[in-house]
Amino acid sequence: MGSAQSRRSLQQKFYENRILDRFTAQEPKKVSLRQLVLFGRQLTEEKLLASANYVRSELPVRLAHRISDFQFLPYIAGTNPHLKTVYDLYWRAFDEFRRFPVVRTLDDNRRFCDNVKKNLLEHSQVIPQLGMGVSECADLVAPDEIDRFMNQMLISRISRRTLAEQHIALSEQFDEDLRQHLNLLPSESFAKLAKAPPGFTTQHIGIVCADCNVAQLVHECALHAAGMYEEAFHLPPGSAPQVLVEGHTDATLMCIPAHFSYIVHELLKNSMSHVMERFAARLETTGAAESESAGDPAFPPIRVTICASHTDIVVRVSDQSGGISPQVLPYIWSFTHPLKAKRLHNFHSVHRMEARMDEGDAAVSPLVAFGFGLPMSRIYANYWGGNVNVHSLPGHGVDAYVQLPRLGNAVENISSRRYLVSADT
Ligand SMILES: Nc1ncnc2c1ncn2[C@@H]1O[C@H](COP(=O)(O)OP(=O)(O)OP(=O)(O)O)[C@@H](O)[C@H]1O
Ligand SMILES: [Mg+2]
Repeated sequence: MGSAQSRRSLQQKFYENRILDRFTAQEPKKVSLRQLVLFGRQLTEEKLLASANYVRSELPVRLAHRISDFQFLPYIAGTNPHLKTVYDLYWRAFDEFRRFPVVRTLDDNRRFCDNVKKNLLEHSQVIPQLGMGVSECADLVAPDEIDRFMNQMLISRISRRTLAEQHIALSEQFDEDLRQHLNLLPSESFAKLAKAPPGFTTQHIGIVCADCNVAQLVHECALHAAGMYEEAFHLPPGSAPQVLVEGHTDATLMCIPAHFSYIVHELLKNSMSHVMERFAARLETTGAAESESAGDPAFPPIRVTICASHTDIVVRVSDQSGGISPQVLPYIWSFTHPLKAKRLHNFHSVHRMEARMDEGDAAVSPLVAFGFGLPMSRIYANYWGGNVNVHSLPGHGVDAYVQLPRLGNAVENISSRRYLVSADT
């Protein structure tokens, strides 16, 4: 009986892996922001159905590559319950999408969108689960190896969510236009429900903004970050360090505002928290609001400089936090160096995380640090062919830079290669 059962389970595994191989043999079909914008303009039913079928066939391919990454993890890491939870979630989603029938009508598309939304929701536990899993495996697997695994997992996750959210936003916009056309009562569109992120202007197609104003986005991120710390430290509004925006303040770029604002927000959060920590004594003696009205702010300001070339946007965030401690500096881009992996334990207090500026989960307090902000920001920038860098000026402060292509013609920077293959090979 036992051996018949184990034979069946082996057969099942063999069958499943044959299916997986069929999908990992395919390369993802990468898109650029410009393609998303051009496609989404003047949407027709035919184009919407084509978009649905692209997402329907693309999601299982992208999921299959990451499922295969899990299978190549060292055995001991593969048995970790948190990583196993993500693996099972990915298998379920892979199976659902690969079996989903061709989308031929608008009704099919509504069912498809419901399925995608359900998946997006279920997978909002993936980041905390990966964080906990990786922190528990930090002593078992070489840090470089598990960092590569995390980078691949997270960049691929961003890519799948981008395709899914873009399609849902286009579908809801299409439904809205149709309803208005038929003179029915308008319902709330996905974009409205999802609370339009900063930088959103009239020129948005789905979740992409064709001419996002950088200075406006920085101001909104600064307001949000300041509000978070003022609330967390029970300070009156206006107490947090001032953010001065200078340079090419009219500059715009094509981007997904939710991605760009995540990066800027993380850099501003780092600057604000460390400047506040360094100069906390000033607050205690004077009280921020008081000293500010006397023309002497409690904290030195954070300067944000925007530079636009024909092809790129560079944003520099400069603070006077005193610099990054030399013990931490070599590991700021790692998720798993022992100094950082310990911080990932904090994910035990968080059940959902989207890696967005306006997280819905109240448990994501600015006072709970995961050591996640810088590496995740770099992943977002890398995904669109940009980068994030940090220069520490010991005893003075930090200059952090984010660079992003501004014309939207870079294709997604995703790799189908297994994480174990070194980037140099
Ligand atoms: N502007 C800064 N000034 C001083 N130290 C900084 C600054 N930015 C980053 N650091 C240092 O780099 C570390 C890593 O930053 P990172 O944003 O990745 O994680 P975190 O801020 O600790 O946690 P999280 O971003 O997940 O809340 C910080 O813990 C801090 O020691
Ligand atoms: Mg941070």
